[in-house]
Amino acid sequence: MLSNGKEEVLKSCVSSYEMKGHVFCHSSSNVSKRECCFTDFCNNVTLHLPRGLPLLVQRTISRTIVLHEIIGKGRFGEVWRGKWQGEDVAVKIFSSRDEMSWFREAEIYQTIMLRHENILGFIAADNKDNGSWTQLWLVSEYHEHGSLFDYLNQYSVSVEAMITLAVSIASGLAHLHMEIIGTQGKPAIAHRDIKSKNILVKKNGTCVIADLGLAVKHDSVGNTIDIPSNQRVGTKRYMAPEILDDSINMNNFESFKRADIYSLGLVYWELAQRCSIRGVHNEYQLPYSDLVPSDPSIEDMRVVVCDQKLRPNISNQWQSCEALRVMGKIMRECWYANAAARLTALRIKKTISQLSVTKDVRLQNGALHV
Ligand SMILES: Nc1ncnc2c1ncn2[C@@H]1O[C@H](COP(=O)(O)OP(=O)(O)OP(=O)(O)O)[C@@H](O)[C@H]1O
Ligand SMILES: [Mg+2]
Repeated sequence: MLSNGKEEVLKSCVSSYEMKGHVFCHSSSNVSKRECCFTDFCNNVTLHLPRGLPLLVQRTISRTIVLHEIIGKGRFGEVWRGKWQGEDVAVKIFSSRDEMSWFREAEIYQTIMLRHENILGFIAADNKDNGSWTQLWLVSEYHEHGSLFDYLNQYSVSVEAMITLAVSIASGLAHLHMEIIGTQGKPAIAHRDIKSKNILVKKNGTCVIADLGLAVKHDSVGNTIDIPSNQRVGTKRYMAPEILDDSINMNNFESFKRADIYSLGLVYWELAQRCSIRGVHNEYQLPYSDLVPSDPSIEDMRVVVCDQKLRPNISNQWQSCEALRVMGKIMRECWYANAAARLTALRIKKTISQLSVTKDVRLQNGALHV
């Protein structure tokens, strides 16, 4: 099209949503994808998308990162600690075989208004061709404690630390689940792979939710979900009963949020197990580790969770500590077979926050009486 006498071509690999933000470039001749493709073409044009950093800046960042050591391996490749301008960063490297996963995760992280203190801070996505193969990079903030799974394996936690960790996870999930209306709004997002390995622990003792590659977004105007979501995805051990027995109504977005809440209850159980009262705590255990094999099948899980209706054990000892008693009650209300009866992330956040408020008040009163 002609604009001010200059030819401008609509960049056709930008999603229709972004097009409303008037994104143009000057040479999109061979690009036919509707979604932004992060190809050299895209990266060569400085696009000021309404979210995230401009693509050219993302590329410049990732090209100046020095990789130091591998810190983990997951389903979709390796995670490295790297340095960028003297700062630690985490680099998740996907192989080109997993391009869809890389693309999806980058896309979700760049959802407008997603940034939150309890969601992993995304920095850049880039594709690097080293001559023989293409490496797909996802650069994010680095958290030296690693995942909550790593952390709980290594340390037990005090009641206060448990509350701080639990509130922060609920805050992150509540933000993800919440729809914010307006031009600077955000769609509701369901994670679909909540587990202790996908939550990272920050230096200040709070958490961030990571691994958004399986997430789904809700378009409340058209009441549609942004990707076909008919497969059973996620981690079998953490799957909600309605996913295991295939009774989930995938046309209702609430279903995905409720399934996240079930998984959150399991993460809380892992956390509460490691909570130390008067020096007493349990060893770290994965949920259901006493009932299913180490790499359980969907059928193994279905028998335990749906047929036998078993859930992780809520210890009687937890009744002697107010915070653990409340955590136990929350877990039960996350695990209802009837998904509609489960708590919401916002409710959980408020209930656990009140625990810390009550405790603070008590401390203050205590201090006043000293
Ligand atoms: N931003 C980060 N900062 C610090 N450590 C990280 C970061 N991202 C990931 N890790 C570490 O790398 C490990 C591997 O992460 P990855 O998400 O690839 O796999 P996973 O979560 O362990 O398994 P899965 O593939 O089932 O999600 C994590 O368990 C964590 O210990
Ligand atoms: Mg992961």
